[in-house]
Amino acid sequence: MQFLHQHKRGDIMSHFISTEITHFLSALSTALDFTAEGLTRHHRRATYIAVQIGKHLGLSDRDMLILFCAASVHDIGAITFQDKQPLSQLEMVTPHLHCTEGYHLLKTVPAFASIAEVILHHHDFWQSDTADYALTPTSASASASAPASASLPDTSLPFLGHIIHLADRFEVALVGKPLLIQRNSILEHIDNYFHGALHPDIRSALYEAAKPENFWLDLSSIFLEEATLAALKQGNTVIQFDNEDLRGVARLFGELIDRKSRFTLRHSRLVSASAKRLAELAGWTPSQTMKMEIASLLHDLGKLSIPESILEKPGALTRDEYSIMKQHTYYTYHLLHKIPGFADIAEWAAYHHERVDGSGYPFRIPGAKLCQGSRIVAVADIFSALIEDRPYRPGMPKDRICSILRDSVHSGAIDADLVGLLLENYSDFYEIKNTLS
Ligand SMILES: [Fe+2]
Ligand SMILES: [Fe+2]
Ligand SMILES: [Fe+2]
Repeated sequence: MQFLHQHKRGDIMSHFISTEITHFLSALSTALDFTAEGLTRHHRRATYIAVQIGKHLGLSDRDMLILFCAASVHDIGAITFQDKQPLSQLEMVTPHLHCTEGYHLLKTVPAFASIAEVILHHHDFWQSDTADYALTPTSASASASAPASASLPDTSLPFLGHIIHLADRFEVALVGKPLLIQRNSILEHIDNYFHGALHPDIRSALYEAAKPENFWLDLSSIFLEEATLAALKQGNTVIQFDNEDLRGVARLFGELIDRKSRFTLRHSRLVSASAKRLAELAGWTPSQTMKMEIASLLHDLGKLSIPESILEKPGALTRDEYSIMKQHTYYTYHLLHKIPGFADIAEWAAYHHERVDGSGYPFRIPGAKLCQGSRIVAVADIFSALIEDRPYRPGMPKDRICSILRDSVHSGAIDADLVGLLLENYSDFYEIKNTLS
């Protein structure tokens, strides 16, 4: 079994980006909480509940981390607002579709193999006569000695899936405020829903976790995220992604963003490959170029907040629709900026609709403050949009693309030197389109 690389705090790491998985996944978890009703707190609250149950079960540090990661992205398989809508009903008709979809998506990131397995099971019911699950040994000292072992058995993964099932349905049952006064009715509601098909240890752990008032207060407070991280208690270990893992997760989220609309099926990958080539041509180092790949894969992360009716509209957007569209880079910035070590990535990714004449959106950054990384993503984004085949038109020919790029330079939208580099090396960029399936 492969799980995230684990290092003792204080190790000297050579990674150019050092980010704890908890912060990275918290940010991505928020991105998954956009629905037709706006920004919900479903993943974040379900993660808090799951972690509290795990804590009362006395799970090992390793299982707690897998539980946290899996809960943070448990509904990743429901991509569009339409896919997400049925998940907010307590009684679901076909819950397993998004479990399978999420499993296949997460399997593409090698470091997420265990998390994929948990997500596959996150709507399973427990049956006392057919299944029981062994937990990996609870050990307060596990994290203080060896790193997470690759040979630990996977028998606990479906069990962790059951915890998420309970946390997920519990969260859906939380309606209105204040939550504290609904305590008994919600617990009763959950017992009726599971009707005995819930592992007795998991049920007891929930009842224990739900005793103190702060459990209910945390769930509706602005301090939810820090309460979750405090309950997670990472011991003296810090979990970091290495460069390949980060790129793998960025690719995964690029794929999610692109799947929101059939118009943009390869957009994030195309922008990323084009931005990477531009950075190389501009003389960037390999490590900076890889950082650029990650930023450009995530440049439209905030599009997870945009309704498909706008993303899928074949014609021109109305003024109101365009205003809503403009929020996507605002969210890209704030989702990425809160991740430690991601300050550059957030700017390069989120400023791709800023203009060198200072009249872009959403921050209206003056050109003098627009760094080369942001300018690269802006050029790559426009180039990719022009060369991509769309369901309603084929990709544009070279002459047309060159003239639009030159016009965009003259109007003060994008960087003249970078467009010059792209035009001088046009065949490199044309090839990128052919290499992406
Ligand atoms: Fe789910
Ligand atoms: Fe859910
Ligand atoms: Fe964009």
